[in-house]
Amino acid sequence: MIEPPESHAIDSFFSISFELVATDQALPYDLFINSSSLENREKFVKLLRAGDALTKEDLKLFRTKYHQIYVRETQRSFFLKSLVLLKDDTTPVQQPGSPERPSDLEIQKTSVLKESAIHHLAHLFEDEPSTEVLGQTISGFRDVVENMIDVLQDYSIDKLRELIGSLSFHDFYTYDHSVNVSMYCILIYKTLKPNATQAEVIQAGMAGLLHDLGKIKIPTHIINNAGKLSEEEFKEIQKHPGFGNELLNQNDLKLPGDLDPKQLGEIVMAHHENFDGTGYPRKLAGNQIHVMARITAIADFFDAITTKRSYQDPLSIEEAISLMRKFEGKKLDPKLFELFLVHAEKMMGKTESPLEFLTEEFDPCQPHDHLPLGVTAQPKPKPSEKPNAGSILVEQQPAADFGKVKVIVPPPVLKRDPLAFGQIKVIGGQKDPPKPFRKKK
Ligand SMILES: [Fe+2]
Ligand SMILES: [Fe+2]
Repeated sequence: MIEPPESHAIDSFFSISFELVATDQALPYDLFINSSSLENREKFVKLLRAGDALTKEDLKLFRTKYHQIYVRETQRSFFLKSLVLLKDDTTPVQQPGSPERPSDLEIQKTSVLKESAIHHLAHLFEDEPSTEVLGQTISGFRDVVENMIDVLQDYSIDKLRELIGSLSFHDFYTYDHSVNVSMYCILIYKTLKPNATQAEVIQAGMAGLLHDLGKIKIPTHIINNAGKLSEEEFKEIQKHPGFGNELLNQNDLKLPGDLDPKQLGEIVMAHHENFDGTGYPRKLAGNQIHVMARITAIADFFDAITTKRSYQDPLSIEEAISLMRKFEGKKLDPKLFELFLVHAEKMMGKTESPLEFLTEEFDPCQPHDHLPLGVTAQPKPKPSEKPNAGSILVEQQPAADFGKVKVIVPPPVLKRDPLAFGQIKVIGGQKDPPKPFRKKK
């Protein structure tokens, strides 16, 4: 079965996990091993030719004999397409009251899809791409999105968040965020239009993946600035939706046939417009904003505040939704947001979070040292609510500003979980030294 070595460089191959090789059917890609034991002197040898099939026993034997298996980079798209052939025969154990868990196979599939999306994104950010490279990259993205749709079939928001939490992280704002937004866009669009065509759902997923494409034309030091931007820097950042639109509408750009570059460009151009007309770059309002752009804005916001990053624990779905409610009708389309909640609310209570953004200008596409959140007046407990052992009394404070965490006159209330607000200690807050919000120890 093993054929003579091929002289390909290491970057012409990528490794795959044994679990992602379908058995008992013709594989649409060649399978390789690295027969060299020397680092940087890889020698790839073909183990299986495209069109051949492996039995479960063959695969078992390969696992014992080979450390790693590889696929040629030029066949990445065939490999991705083959993922739908994999059958999931495991049922994850679900704890009552907790979100449904993705299966191991779903996590593995999504990991490989995310790696592929990042592989393509990295090409874009390395150098300003030619239209040829951009076209190839977008074709690669399309394969990724098509497979994501297959994985996410009947996912709820909660389950997707579980899935996202199971994936490895790279560089949040450059890579992870776009992939996550794409997955949320797919789910929201399918909820909005259950009978949507495959092409429409692909378009929605592509809009999420490409929403910040224009950033490749903005200087890196501005893109990565997690602090306060100067007026000039902010003006520069505000150009990225327009740049994205221009990139997608270049005359000589060749895209897969089921993508509509004009529509995609319009969505990318409008993802920072606010429902109330206060966004940028065109100050569109309501239905003037393309529906997929309004969906992207919800996905963008939700992911920016719920995804775990190195410097900050994520907000719970409950906290995130309570916060986002305050932007309904302002930044976010209220009808679409309610639709977004259809699945998420199955898993959560209806309590209101006392967290609040300290600024109306929160930009989910920009990096933040810490989310600009504070604690505001909390809902009063119902008369029937009695303190339990885990409750503490939060004393009334005058307004105080602890750097990024501003306590906005909290009235006397019972706070059930003293850790629910990360590192914020409201009791005796004025004596406590200022602490950054949810910064990891
Ligand atoms: Fe953006
Ligand atoms: Fe974004």
